[in-house]
Amino acid sequence: MTSLAELHDVARQRLAPEHYDYFAGGAGDEVALADNERSFRRLALLPRILPGSATRDLAVRLPGAEASMPVFVSPTAFHRLAHPDGELATARAVAAAGTVLIASMAATVAIGDIAAAAREVDPGATLWFQLYLQTDREVTDLLVRRAADAGCSALVVTVDSPVFGRHERDRQHGFTDLPDGLFAENMRDLPGGPRNIEMSPALSWADLDRLRESTSLPMLLKGVLHPEDAHLAVEHGMDGILVSNHGGRQLDAAPAPVDVLPRIVEVVGGRVPVLLDGGVRRGTDVAIALALGATAVGIGRPVLWGLAAAGESGVRQVLELLREEFDDALALCGGRRLADLTRDLVTVRGPEG
Ligand code: FNR
Repeated sequence: MTSLAELHDVARQRLAPEHYDYFAGGAGDEVALADNERSFRRLALLPRILPGSATRDLAVRLPGAEASMPVFVSPTAFHRLAHPDGELATARAVAAAGTVLIASMAATVAIGDIAAAAREVDPGATLWFQLYLQTDREVTDLLVRRAADAGCSALVVTVDSPVFGRHERDRQHGFTDLPDGLFAENMRDLPGGPRNIEMSPALSWADLDRLRESTSLPMLLKGVLHPEDAHLAVEHGMDGILVSNHGGRQLDAAPAPVDVLPRIVEVVGGRVPVLLDGGVRRGTDVAIALALGATAVGIGRPVLWGLAAAGESGVRQVLELLREEFDDALALCGGRRLADLTRDLVTVRGPEG
């Protein structure tokens, strides 16, 4: 495979149409979904020359983690729809790449089993747990405890989903439930029996405060787009911000994360790391986001395409392709270290750039 796009094509051929569309689709007219990738293409990198070093250092420090490169895996649900090994394969591949897997609360493998798979490959593998706050605090607290017991080194609280996005592709297929035999495993073994993941517009900053006080784990807020919310997140004790529009699956009129990134970086002012996901498909996209002030970027769908195309080995290919492409991009920009990717390197494509 020579590019993520090629793995995407293989995955499209392998997956049942309703599962492909569940993974690929966005909300409404899929304007945000399309814009996420397109926005990177509207930007250009103004390379510097003669860097004077033959080697480059891609490693980055994140809350509760040292990653071998500034690319991590964003949380996506239901990996066993893509491959029978599901999240176990993903966890092994991400551990082998030495980067962070954010395990979804809606995983089809329980968090403890995901952690065990990662640790078989690398005892020091880093996992973060993604959480949707539940109105039943006992359920939230239990999930946090299980994540901590599994050795997760941070929580990622997703806050862009007060209600489910309207996914028209799923409605057209009548795809509403997981096939027989697959479950959101973290939600199975709960007091009172299995539950569905609940999304609630009744949740507020006070609920986040309560969660913040209930655990000492580093906590990142995922789904921030408004600069004022980024500021509030820092004030409320968050250890990082993940700028995201949920891969275009929630508010279809939301902007592309890369377009709001500079304003958020400015407001946060270096107090906590700012991460980004949405539309990252090339090493040059990683370089653009870093130059605009992101500490690292996440990928969602490309991992699902790798998984569907070739299981663990497919996810490894996705991560290694991005690593190589990003390393090339850094070299071609005349950089040696991540810090060499500075804001002045980014320009708008076209005559005005
Ligand atoms: C997601 N995303 C997501 N986010 C989250 O916080 N919890 C979740 O369970 C899921 N599930 C999920 C399923 C699928 C099929 C997709 C495509 C996405 C959003 C995800 O974390 C991330 O924000 C986007 O996928 C990033 O965009 P790209 O890389 O897919 O363009």
